[in-house]
Amino acid sequence: MAKAKPASELDYNNLGFNYMDLPYRFLAHYSDGRWDAGKLTEDSTLHISEGSTSLHYGQADFEGLKAYRTKDGSINLFRPDMNAKRMHNSCERLLMPPYPEDKFIEAVKQVVAANADYVPPYGTGATLYLRPLMIGIGGNIGVHPASEYLFTIFAMPVGAYYKGGLKPTNFTTSYYDRAAPHGTGQSKVGGNYGGSLLPGDEAHKAGYSDVIYLDPATHTKIEEAGSANFFGITKDNEFVTPKSPSILPSITKYSALYLAEHRLGLKAVQGDVFINDLDRFKEAGAMGTAAVISPIGGIEYKDKLHVFYSETEVAPLTRKLYDELTGIQFGDVEAPEGWIQKVPLN
Ligand code: PLP
Ligand code: COI
Repeated sequence: MAKAKPASELDYNNLGFNYMDLPYRFLAHYSDGRWDAGKLTEDSTLHISEGSTSLHYGQADFEGLKAYRTKDGSINLFRPDMNAKRMHNSCERLLMPPYPEDKFIEAVKQVVAANADYVPPYGTGATLYLRPLMIGIGGNIGVHPASEYLFTIFAMPVGAYYKGGLKPTNFTTSYYDRAAPHGTGQSKVGGNYGGSLLPGDEAHKAGYSDVIYLDPATHTKIEEAGSANFFGITKDNEFVTPKSPSILPSITKYSALYLAEHRLGLKAVQGDVFINDLDRFKEAGAMGTAAVISPIGGIEYKDKLHVFYSETEVAPLTRKLYDELTGIQFGDVEAPEGWIQKVPLN
């Protein structure tokens, strides 16, 4: 895999969401019951045993967060403590040794500072995406947790996740489930995404930008999209997002619930969103670190497309929410206490 082009040669206005091999990543190793100190490395290839539990049995979890270049040239992280905590929870679900949360944040800052040239310029809307990843390694064959692990954090500049960025796109419901009622849906583990590749591919081939999964027990309620949580805004100004034990607890979702209530004057609700009752919503969207706030034009269900506001125009409250959230992330709008951490630059 070729190394990334020099930072000055990238077209930050047309990045999309693609892997790039940047100069530095963080790597720590767990063995004999403890994590080593970890360090930055230039080697982007992992050398692991063929018996690694991550390869056979999906003992692997990950995170996604972004670094934002502000107008004054400094670099912001958005709520990295919540990613550290969620990864801790994912590790507990897969019997992996959680990486200490304070050290997680420290390592994120090291990776951003070491690759600071690649944090896209303010005003392009692009960001540096960080991917913390933990995998079970070592020689194993039985279905047991590994005794050795790698924790890495790598990074790459990214643009819009869904084609068009802040433009409505259509989503489709799927026959497949993303997660089981008491499975691993609430954890950010690799297996959830392996199972989503086929439904995602079918949706893309049919011209939709992502899948909307229904609740696995009754198939009557919206759970979430393949890589983002769902929200709808009702005609009487309630900001509604599904509550379910099998969806990923999205950091963007918790932030949007707060902003909807405290900055947009909406009533914020976590509750049921029945797929047969989409008429109550005047706007809808997908939200996540990669997706940011992505307007949903319409949702296809049983061969009918339900359009919310418009298939081409961004709805007004969705745009307001996008502006408020990204304004905070890029440092232009005052952040609620504790939401922004600065990356110390050398
Ligand atoms: N749901 C799924 C399945 C995801 O992969 C993601 C991405 O992280 C989200 C929701 C959004 O979560 P967050 O806002 O924490 O990025
Ligand atoms: C994220 O938003 O960080 C995600 O992890 C979504 C997807 C790229 C898996």
